[in-house]
Amino acid sequence: MTEGVTKQYPKNVGRPPALDGVSLSIRPGGIYGLIGPNGAGKTTIIRICSTQLLPTAGTVTILGHDAIADPRSVRTRIAVIPQESRPLYFLNVDELVYLYLKMRGMDRAESRRRTNAVLEELGLVEERKRLVSRLSGGMRRRAMVAMVLASDAEVLFLDEPTTGLDPLARREVWGAIRRTIRDHRTVILTTHYLDEAEQLASRIALLDRGKVLLEGTADDLRARVRRPYRVTVDSRVPRTELERYGDVTDVDGGHLVFTRESDARELALKALGAGARVSMGPVSLEDVFLQVVGRPIDDGTTGEEAA
Ligand SMILES: Nc1ncnc2c1ncn2[C@@H]1O[C@H](COP(=O)(O)OP(=O)(O)O)[C@@H](O)[C@H]1O
Ligand SMILES: [Mg+2]
Repeated sequence: MTEGVTKQYPKNVGRPPALDGVSLSIRPGGIYGLIGPNGAGKTTIIRICSTQLLPTAGTVTILGHDAIADPRSVRTRIAVIPQESRPLYFLNVDELVYLYLKMRGMDRAESRRRTNAVLEELGLVEERKRLVSRLSGGMRRRAMVAMVLASDAEVLFLDEPTTGLDPLARREVWGAIRRTIRDHRTVILTTHYLDEAEQLASRIALLDRGKVLLEGTADDLRARVRRPYRVTVDSRVPRTELERYGDVTDVDGGHLVFTRESDARELALKALGAGARVSMGPVSLEDVFLQVVGRPIDDGTTGEEAA
């Protein structure tokens, strides 16, 4: 779908490009997760794929069309919810969805039918007359998902659809997003919440400083790290005894060890023998990120600052 996409923003000439040879092959159907910290290039790649921004180099093919040479053929078949988008606040929920469909060229009867159906489906019937400006953050994102879901777009781009929402509201938005995968539509979702990618996406690309570092299913990503197991033990076991098993990090009340499967078992038995509390399991995507990139995904720095 993208091949060697590079973007150097004119303002930033002389600095590393925002995207540096990004090649993604996204198969139709399902949810594809683009994960990465702030500044990784997620929004830039979404804007390029959705024909809003031209790359400096590279090609983008969407549904068989060249998105750079022939953006018009692509636009009618995609829908985008931009990052931190502000829907038209003077509209109510019903109008937001209905007018969006009308704007996309759908006739009145079909727009009305689809609006009713989607509000029903996403549990927004009681909110339909409420102004978008009066909705909670979670409800507003759901209304926006409803809007693109009701359209006939085959590829949906959602740029950080749950950023800033509380955990409950995030789950409600996830529920709405999951419904988009009926009808073999393709969703490309960016997030810096790795649990979100794991919950929703069938394949994931890990982006950092404009480059794809890993790509595959969540399990593929886990399998790519050298130490795919995590063992936490409380501080009854001294750190020095842990170091021969793998990489040790101090965490609240104990230590976290990234290790190989056989070592994980041995370490867990030993720690249990010493009367320590132990938990053990495969690494999370957060751990994968930490091991591959060398810093936590949400440590507050951007790729640029850390560079
Ligand atoms: N319009 C712009 N002009 C100049 N630089 C930009 C612009 N938009 C983004 N960038 C830079 O490009 C890089 C990637 O940004 P972005 O795509 O927004 O990342 P993400 O969405 O992953 O946070 C960052 O270094 C950012 O500062
Ligand atoms: Mg972004």
